[in-house]
Amino acid sequence: MLGESARLEIEKAIDEYPNPQGAAIDALRIVQRHHRWVSDEHLAETAEMLGMSVEQLDGIATFYNRIYRRPVGRHVIEICDSVVCWMLEQPRLVAELERRGLTLGETSGDGRVTLLPTPCLGACHRAPALLVDGELHDGLTVERVARLLEELP
Ligand code: FES
Repeated sequence: MLGESARLEIEKAIDEYPNPQGAAIDALRIVQRHHRWVSDEHLAETAEMLGMSVEQLDGIATFYNRIYRRPVGRHVIEICDSVVCWMLEQPRLVAELERRGLTLGETSGDGRVTLLPTPCLGACHRAPALLVDGELHDGLTVERVARLLEELP
């Protein structure tokens, strides 16, 4: 079940568009904020509210890489894997994260951190960059990445 407050927020979002489908991305974000990821059950409920088929909404959900269709850890690190970051030490950052028990595309065994690749974050002038729970960190070094990971609760 989506839950009362998520449903209310989605209804409010729908009211802001000329047609309910226009609120699809907002609705997916609302679901994710309430449940951390978008399960099949929540996707179906949301699709019904938007007057869309599950397949249509799933197409939107899977197009946007910040909508999670699988469970994620308590924290999500999204590391840029586009060309500028890749040329500027990104592989060394990934190696450091892997050395500390993370695997790209997976959640750590203790459920603490999910490490995901992401396309360019628009911070190429300060590459390499990553997001921790949606917050941008750029100009990174191996040491800073190690510290970021250690500081996560
Ligand atoms: S290539 Fe990484 S932020 Fe643009």
